[in-house]
Amino acid sequence: MRPFSLFPLLFVSIPVVSQDTQEGQVIISVGSDAIPALAGYFANDEALLVREKNVSILRVPEKELPFLSHLMHEKFGRCGGFFVEDSFQTALSAMRERFVSNDEAYTIDQAERVKEAIGLVREEKIRGTIEALSAFRNRYYHSPHGVQSQEFVGKTWLELASSLPNVRLEYFEHAAYPQRSVILTIPGVKTPEEVIVIGGHGDSIAGWNPPQDVEAPGADDNASGISTITEVIRVLSALNFAPDRTIKFMSYAAEEVGLRGSNEIATQFEQSGVQVKGVIQLDMTNFTTRPKEIVIMTDFTDPRQNQFMKNLLSTYLPTFTVLEDRCGYACSDHASWHRHGFPASIPFESRMREYNPNIHTKRDTISVSNNRAEHAVPFAQLVLAYAIELLTL
Ligand code: BES
Ligand code: ZN
Repeated sequence: MRPFSLFPLLFVSIPVVSQDTQEGQVIISVGSDAIPALAGYFANDEALLVREKNVSILRVPEKELPFLSHLMHEKFGRCGGFFVEDSFQTALSAMRERFVSNDEAYTIDQAERVKEAIGLVREEKIRGTIEALSAFRNRYYHSPHGVQSQEFVGKTWLELASSLPNVRLEYFEHAAYPQRSVILTIPGVKTPEEVIVIGGHGDSIAGWNPPQDVEAPGADDNASGISTITEVIRVLSALNFAPDRTIKFMSYAAEEVGLRGSNEIATQFEQSGVQVKGVIQLDMTNFTTRPKEIVIMTDFTDPRQNQFMKNLLSTYLPTFTVLEDRCGYACSDHASWHRHGFPASIPFESRMREYNPNIHTKRDTISVSNNRAEHAVPFAQLVLAYAIELLTL
């Protein structure tokens, strides 16, 4: 064995379809309406890397470009009709740019369905899930308790969503530790390749480098976020919601030790070209000293999506005051998605200087929130508004 031979092993576990170009190949983007006409000429499956509603990305032999130009002109009356891109990554960013600058995605026009959904949110349901999750001794990434708590989340989500067609539950394995991330997918009916992610971290911690049986209830950090997501799943299921785009709910492993679970997932999604159109992170939603305030963090997040969140709040939850603040560092899993180029937001329970002082200790219980989940309610309602508006084409 070569010295350091373990090193590459740590990095090879992600199966990816390569988007690299070889000598003589180029990446182009083209209107998706041209794909059927081109299919015959580029029969190779690997030519079509990404197909979106409006635009697709292809890998073609450079020598075909003049012919392609001719074809586009003949069949579509377009001069050129395609863009030669520098790389797959720049093509993808340009595509995302087009999407997010496209106001169509951020329109608010589903009032009737959103109001119905908002009316179905129940404080006692969120409270029940917080209590169940914080009853685990801990949800530490390196402990059997943390493995079991994620299985509990998976089972709970699947049971709630089982009536929805084609719903799918996955456990995302992390090579370096036993805790898995949980992913519940409701496939889109019209454009399943477009994905919205609603996530929070499923792990908890108390102290630095704790033992496996440390007492870490993590009621606010982050049973609150996972329980808020659980309520969103319950309400969407009760409404028999059939999204046009795909929605994925995630309970990440190992956030408390460096955003590890979400970072691995975001890396894999970027490398395999998954079209993630928006990410919401829920981490700490149930502690406050100012019940009518919701805070939008502006760092490591997407300003346009944040504006959309604020518009949703003023439309559907007008009695709440919306404030902005900054974590000041990559404080939670939204930063993993942001780092990989996906638009992310994190609506948060309080201003930074007033957050729950009990987190990361055994005192992080629901009793410091009066044994209630009242403050988490508008977060579930906001995410429902976001999901219904963004998942309806
Ligand atoms: N929920 C916290 C982040 C947080 C705490 C946000 C207080 C806003 C106010 C999160 O679970 C956490 O503890 N993150 C770590 C950073 C991570 C990279 C290990 C932290 O804040 O130290
Ligand atoms: Zn947290």
